Amino acid sequence: MEEMQLKQLLKKMTLEEKIGQTIQLSGEFFISEASEITGPMTEMHIDAERLKGVGSVLGVSGATAVIDIQTRHLKNNRLGIPLLFMADVIHGYQTIFPIPLGLASSWNLVLAEQTAEIAAREAAVAGLHVTFSPMADLVRDARWGRVMEATGEDAYLNALYARAFVRGYQGQDLLNDTTKVAACVKHFAAYGAPIAGREYNTVNMSERQLRELYLSAYQAAIDEGSKLVMTAFNTVDGVPATGNKWLMNQVLREEMKFNGVLISDWGAIGELVPHGVAADLKEAGDLAMNAGVDIEMMSAAYSGHLAELITEETLDLDLLDEAVLRILMLKNDLGLFEQPLRGADIQKEKAMIGSQEHRLAAQQAAEQSIVLLKNEGVLPLKVTQKIALLGPGATSKDILGNWSWKGKTEESVSLAEGLARCLPRENLLIDTSTDYFELSETQLKTAFKLAEQADVLVLALGETADMSGEAASRTNIQLPASQLHLLTELKKLNKPLVVTLYNGRPLDLTAVTAKADALVEAWFPGSQGGDALANILMGQVNPSGKLTMSFPRTLGQVPIYYNADNTGRPLTEANKDQRYVSKYYDSENSPLFPFGFGLSYSRFSYKTMQLSTTELSETEELTVRVHVKNDSSIEGTEIVQLYLRDKVGEVVRPVKELKRFERVTLSAGEEQEVCFTLQEKDLRYVHSDLTKRSDKGMFDIMVGTSSDTTQLQTITLL
Ligand code: GLC
Repeated sequence: MEEMQLKQLLKKMTLEEKIGQTIQLSGEFFISEASEITGPMTEMHIDAERLKGVGSVLGVSGATAVIDIQTRHLKNNRLGIPLLFMADVIHGYQTIFPIPLGLASSWNLVLAEQTAEIAAREAAVAGLHVTFSPMADLVRDARWGRVMEATGEDAYLNALYARAFVRGYQGQDLLNDTTKVAACVKHFAAYGAPIAGREYNTVNMSERQLRELYLSAYQAAIDEGSKLVMTAFNTVDGVPATGNKWLMNQVLREEMKFNGVLISDWGAIGELVPHGVAADLKEAGDLAMNAGVDIEMMSAAYSGHLAELITEETLDLDLLDEAVLRILMLKNDLGLFEQPLRGADIQKEKAMIGSQEHRLAAQQAAEQSIVLLKNEGVLPLKVTQKIALLGPGATSKDILGNWSWKGKTEESVSLAEGLARCLPRENLLIDTSTDYFELSETQLKTAFKLAEQADVLVLALGETADMSGEAASRTNIQLPASQLHLLTELKKLNKPLVVTLYNGRPLDLTAVTAKADALVEAWFPGSQGGDALANILMGQVNPSGKLTMSFPRTLGQVPIYYNADNTGRPLTEANKDQRYVSKYYDSENSPLFPFGFGLSYSRFSYKTMQLSTTELSETEELTVRVHVKNDSSIEGTEIVQLYLRDKVGEVVRPVKELKRFERVTLSAGEEQEVCFTLQEKDLRYVHSDLTKRSDKGMFDIMVGTSSDTTQLQTITLL
């Protein structure tokens, strides 16, 4: 439809029909008979008549269900306005990819886009129109359960991933390409910074830090065309995001140029009451509509009070009209007026969802997401070795991770199944008895009995999937005590000991690293996780993953991140024995494993980098060339990273910031030149007056295999 036609449609709508478009309900309202859900119906001020005018539904997918609901809805909707179907397809629809914090460890943006394309393809054929993804929240606190859903602690890398996911979901022609879905970047804004890592807790930061670090990934998603933005549960400078006019009108819509649909998070408008900025739902609805929130997800401020607010002229009807027009435009951008069933296709759905092609892509994504954290010469394993596979992760299929939508745990590949594919039966001894939180004497004896027969022990440990994700903050980020006990006991056998990890957050692995000869971070690797992990352990795939979130030595260091400020008393080699420096009494400052860290079975060396100039003008370009060599006999992929340090700023500047990276695959003995270019705009940051610009002066350029690289040269911006 043309925009003019949409405006004419808007004119035909009654006040009630306009309000209906702003309401989003969960699936049960559309699946069960109205009478069966009188409770929630009443709470939501919804009756069978009102249901006919609702604008969108979340959490329903499957071509049969969508076709049924949409068809019924259109029969009952006076103006034939179709429903929008939205859901949380975060890292795959039914074919599940590694959790985003895992996938991010691949540093492969093309791969990230491909996983989003496949997720969109499966979601669209199952009838979905919108996915509540990418989650672009910057995260620094491993206590928070939703770090699993983020891409890490670096704003630059997060922005690149946000773009890649939006491209993968939406493609270039959302109207005509019914294999794509609309993206909804979330959670605006700064949801990833709750105090003490406690879920839904207060977020407190300066506007300067918000703009410098936290907004750029949302901006990137919006610049890439994300059709929706979702509000965050948290406050921003004392005002809940969902009712925050400054954040949503001035920052999001005016400055960041977002003109799409703003949807609340689940119940977030209603939560303005417990937050204490609205006395009741009526005030909450007024606040949210004034903040430009177009759709209310699962609370009853709009359904219960918008009519009254408008008829009593507390709320301007224009605001509602603007919101409804944006909703109608989104439906139009998806072609729903012409094709209300869009990509939903029962036959295609059966053939495509969970296909071998998709599972292969999931396996490749998992292989590139796995991070080798330690290897004292015990990996890769050999087919001639007798392997004892022990621990709760050995046969676990609970490896999809949180937010794995229609993923079927029972169809995921366990590590035991993966290794069984690689090893002669007699060379693989599998302990099926251990669980995540208990270790009985019997279980210990069983483990020992197998371990004593083996050449190498593979101990599969970790979290269960529900230990991370939403509402899964932890005050203890170590492995469960029973698992640490099993590790300690098995260590006494003095056999080569490989530990593999399924987890959704950085853990305190200090005790684990001390005992493991090799340590492999597999995250929650998704549907093909066991095959991917087995391929890494057996050397069929050379690990290439690098961390995008620091792993602390101890929880006491959290939040810990690589791009920290230097402070006035920085800890150095020279002053490390002094008392009055910025350090801990009982721990090193450095993380156990830093941002950008990950090992390979290859060995890479870096020659001295060559800079095109040591004095950069505002119009010139700096070229940084560095030769990287594979000194081993095994082809491998290295992620070469370039960091920058602004030596003197108008405000304090981080000791380093990632500015470029490149994945480079080198065959045995091969040497390649990697070339980066930087311009003056890469040196800009948010000043105390909130303008973004660069300062003349000295900058350190660092290049290497991780954020703790030492190769450094200095340039001057003129
Ligand atoms: C949840 C999450 C949000 C999700 C929404 C719909 O509470 O915060 O990320 O998209 O509700 O499920």
